[in-house]
Amino acid sequence: MLPLARVLSRQMLYRDAPDHARLRSLLSRAFTPRTVMTLRDRISDAVDQIITRAAPAGRMDIVADLARPLPLAVICDLLGVPEEDRSALSAWSDPVAEAIGDSRLGADDSRAASQSMGRMLAYLRELLTREEGPPAPHTLRALLATGTENPDQDFDELLANCALLLIAGHETTTHFIGNAALALLSHPQAAEELRNRPELIPAAVEELLRYDSPVQLMLRRARHDLDLAGRSVTAGRAVLLVWGAANRDPAVFPEPDALDFQRPGGRHVAFGYGPHFCPGAALARLEGAVVLEALLTRLPDWKPDGPTPRRQRSLNFRGLIGLEVTFTTATPGDHD
Ligand code: HEM
Repeated sequence: MLPLARVLSRQMLYRDAPDHARLRSLLSRAFTPRTVMTLRDRISDAVDQIITRAAPAGRMDIVADLARPLPLAVICDLLGVPEEDRSALSAWSDPVAEAIGDSRLGADDSRAASQSMGRMLAYLRELLTREEGPPAPHTLRALLATGTENPDQDFDELLANCALLLIAGHETTTHFIGNAALALLSHPQAAEELRNRPELIPAAVEELLRYDSPVQLMLRRARHDLDLAGRSVTAGRAVLLVWGAANRDPAVFPEPDALDFQRPGGRHVAFGYGPHFCPGAALARLEGAVVLEALLTRLPDWKPDGPTPRRQRSLNFRGLIGLEVTFTTATPGDHD
């Protein structure tokens, strides 16, 4: 794991202040709420096209056809990764995500993950030096240009963080869309409520993130001695934060195992907490809202089909391998 760990340890997710704040400030220009909201139509078009393509057959795999390609296309569009390179990027990203999330990793998996990370970094290095002229706003080149304004900034550190953005920007959202679709299929009444009351969609996005959290845990190490919920933790001890369990805490969410789009109060921690709170939350929420609306309006009679959906082999990332559905009518989208 060492070659991979060397790269991961330079990513903001695993840095403390002041490095963390320095790296994170680069992101703030690309991820303003305004930039994210301008993506709504593009996301909507992409979802419509996917559903329109599946309509003649009357069936689709929500994971393979929608939940995987959509977030990848969105983050690559935003960051300026050319279309022809995206499938390679996704193929390099998967072994890395698996290595981060899987507690039963073998030597071959670690090697594959390290090699994939190496290839992704080599690709990014080439991409970011390939083009000339001023970079388009919000792209990786723009982030890089901001980073290299500082003469002490290390190029490899920037590349490691570009890789984080690309990996974190799609793997988790893929799981979210798959988990949300499965939850709706298994709760037809809740789905019907949402179909009739689309104003509940933002609340439904939050509840679905709470109910089946795509990122289940985070391992941190205490920097100082501290008291945590009545337990003393000495400096250097590892602390496993289980977001998924916190999101089912009955003291915060009464009847935590119920899916309730009108649940009062209670803030989930599916995007983490504190200084590392997910900077992609607004984008993920937007993608989730657009997808929910499209699935509910365009596939009113969708049903699960095929084998019982299986979960990915990961302790950390909670997502599906596939989710096949059939439907008889796909109502036309706005953009047909
Ligand atoms: C439903 C989808 C997503 C979920 C559930 C999710 C969840 C998380 C969680 C739990 C963390 C760790 C927070 C902490 O330690 O307190 C995190 C960090 C991060 N996420 Fe997300 N994320 C999602 C989507 C995205 C997207 C779309 C992007 C990029 C556009 C993104 C980029 C990042 C980055 C760069 C970090 C590291 C932030 C830091 O260390 O300061 N994520 N995310």
